[in-house]
Amino acid sequence: MTPSDARHPILTVENLFVELSRKKAVTPILQDVSLSLPEAGMLGLVGETGSGKTMTARAIIGLLPPGVHVKSGSITLDGSELLVDNSTAMREVRGVQIGMVFQNPRTALYPMSSVEAQMKRVLRAHLNLARPNRATRIHEYLRLVGIDDVRRVARSYPHELSGGMAQRVVIATSLLCEPTVLIADEPTTGLDATIQRQILELIADLQARFSLSVLIITHDLGIVAQYCDSVSVMNEGRVVEHGPKRQVLKSPAHEYSERLIAASDLRRIRRAKTSEPQ
Ligand SMILES: Nc1ncnc2c1ncn2[C@@H]1O[C@H](COP(=O)(O)OP(=O)(O)OP(=O)(O)O)[C@@H](O)[C@H]1O
Ligand SMILES: [Mg+2]
Repeated sequence: MTPSDARHPILTVENLFVELSRKKAVTPILQDVSLSLPEAGMLGLVGETGSGKTMTARAIIGLLPPGVHVKSGSITLDGSELLVDNSTAMREVRGVQIGMVFQNPRTALYPMSSVEAQMKRVLRAHLNLARPNRATRIHEYLRLVGIDDVRRVARSYPHELSGGMAQRVVIATSLLCEPTVLIADEPTTGLDATIQRQILELIADLQARFSLSVLIITHDLGIVAQYCDSVSVMNEGRVVEHGPKRQVLKSPAHEYSERLIAASDLRRIRRAKTSEPQ
């Protein structure tokens, strides 16, 4: 297999510093973060709670929380610098080119609108489609994410959907404008194990079918082992290790990655795999 890092990077983060300014105190949030997402590849971003994974994703899509801002660094999408301009127009461009799936599908959906109404809103804002074609496209995307009864789901309100179904709707919505990059921030946390697997299989399937480039944020090294090409490990606002998945998981160079692997059940998974009859 080609080492993923040799492929053209579609999204790069270089020497990114992000800080929180509150009153007179300035707290570093991200320190010298660099990442590279290869085109049509899947990069896993792992690290403990509070290590800065979500802030990295938010910096990429230009949606940092109040008080948090980029101090310096570079973020490029297909060679274009994203940090030159944080205007609404620029954020719209990012919204089309980068799809985002957050941890909790229920907070990502508006509780007061039907699935179809919120997906239509996205289409109206970003794509110049004739009105009759909007519903067709919405149904097409709902089908794409494995929903069979698209008419019923399209008419539903978020609270009427199961967690897994809601996450499928979020994924369909994030893909409506045909982004080249999909960022999924812990897309399966809080879902049942079987549903988790289905959602991950769906993301992997969409990635392969559309040559999507996927940045997947997770605590779960098992997910990295199964789905990613490469992995970046974060600790306390820094990337402490990066490399092809096999290399990092097999022989972590950094003591923190070693601890993360030891703390996960990856060793057990690996042992079970190697002891399976071939
Ligand atoms: N809304 C916010 N305002 C200010 N600081 C924040 C905010 N959200 C998070 N932080 C801080 O930013 C740092 C990085 O947090 P971040 O949410 O990126 O971690 P994470 O790696 O995504 O953790 P988790 O695995 O729990 O999701 C933490 O120190 C956190 O306290
Ligand atoms: Mg997070």
